Amino acid sequence: MSDSSPSFTLVDVPGAVPLLGHLGAFRQRPLESLLTWWRRHGDTLRFRLGPKTFYLFSHPDLAEEILVKQSDRFVKVYNPQKPHGLALVLGNGLVTSSGEVWKRHRRIIQPIFHRSHIAAMADRMAQVGEQRVATWRDRERDTIDIAAEMMQLALEVISQTMFTTSMTQHTDRISYALQVSIKYAFDSFSNPLSLPLWVPTARNREFRSVMQFMDGLMYGLLAERRQSGANHDDLLDLLLQARDEETGEGLSNQELRDEALTIFAAGHETTANALAWTWYLLATHPEAKARFHEEVDRVLQRRTPNAEDLEHLPYTRAIFEESLRLYPPAPAVHRKAATNTMVGGISLPEGAFVLVGTYNLHRHPDFWRNPEQFRPDRWLDGGRPSSRYAYMPFGAGPRTCVGLHFASVEGPLLLALIGRRYDLHLAQDHVEPYLMVTLRPKGGIRMTIQPRHVPVASSV
Ligand code: HEM
Repeated sequence: MSDSSPSFTLVDVPGAVPLLGHLGAFRQRPLESLLTWWRRHGDTLRFRLGPKTFYLFSHPDLAEEILVKQSDRFVKVYNPQKPHGLALVLGNGLVTSSGEVWKRHRRIIQPIFHRSHIAAMADRMAQVGEQRVATWRDRERDTIDIAAEMMQLALEVISQTMFTTSMTQHTDRISYALQVSIKYAFDSFSNPLSLPLWVPTARNREFRSVMQFMDGLMYGLLAERRQSGANHDDLLDLLLQARDEETGEGLSNQELRDEALTIFAAGHETTANALAWTWYLLATHPEAKARFHEEVDRVLQRRTPNAEDLEHLPYTRAIFEESLRLYPPAPAVHRKAATNTMVGGISLPEGAFVLVGTYNLHRHPDFWRNPEQFRPDRWLDGGRPSSRYAYMPFGAGPRTCVGLHFASVEGPLLLALIGRRYDLHLAQDHVEPYLMVTLRPKGGIRMTIQPRHVPVASSV
């Protein structure tokens, strides 16, 4: 950190109890705990979950320090030899791996996210969107769970764009499997008292069973592509064709499975939650919704949107950015100090667990005007925060989300595509955010789908 940067004072969150520390409060309401501790006690906090000590940092300078400037000292928390948390599900894929494995795999995967690919993928996204929305015709004026609906839509988008295959017949089982496995992963990370996987509890058996299903699906996809020999120029091709520069060896079956499942899971959970929250925000802000519909109608003239249209849909893009600010799908970024180090004048011991509180950063009153308000205009008026790291829904530094451009196209594109046909109304009083790896609406969001125009034929 430069000499001119402020120094911070570490505060211990009060209320720790012997042995368990703050586990009780955190387990009950993880998101609320991180938010209220920050509001009450400041930007640099220490708390305990059982034997693990965590540092919660909610200041942009510290986010930059940890994720960018000292990124080599703050590593992912996973150990492939002793998997826990998300690594139990994703293995040693791009989200969870570190070091040389991560570097090499990121080099292999990155090209699929090149802008030139994404423009073509946008047409596929729109096609999938139109197909999904066509199924709403039988449900018009019905009340649906928009969070579940967005999950299914985003799942099909990722399957079609990355794997050139449809998952519609498996959607329910996949949603269930991911829900069970991600909850299991979150518990194993946040609850030091959870029993290890080898203990034959009902919970452990269920986890094993859903993982068996997901493994079967991923290995099946890989085998099918190998057998068919078809070339789709998609992620699956890139993974199967990758060769080590020195040894000429390809990725092992386990590596292929880990990367395929990582993109599959990371590529739809986040966007689906972002979309669900956006519909919620629009439904509770009628003026913004009217302006959104006006823009979509004017620009699209009832056409299916494509990548070029996004340039002419600045308000729609601003809505998505503002939604990612208020409800960042990844509300905290997790690292471990690889060595003793100093951050903002605070010394951290080797092995310290650090959470960069994205959710808090996005609501920090020193960096945002009216931080609690949904104001898409702030993205049009040059009202961006004074610090770049006060807004980081996709993370920062070398581990920035590989799907950033993909999601930045997918989000507004699907919003426009749905918004041109439907007006979504909230059909419940209260929606509660809750943290389970990603930020979800607890119990989903009931919404009524009201048609806006006489349905028009799709142009894709
Ligand atoms: C709104 C949507 C999305 C949000 C908010 C989001 C958020 C994030 C964040 C915060 C990280 C960094 C985590 C860290 O530093 O520990 C990340 C990493 C990652 N994301 Fe996303 N993501 C989104 C969409 C996607 C999509 C569409 C894909 C793939 C198609 C994807 C794949 C990944 C992968 C593979 C990583 C790990 C990258 C690495 O460590 O090299 N994400 N994402």
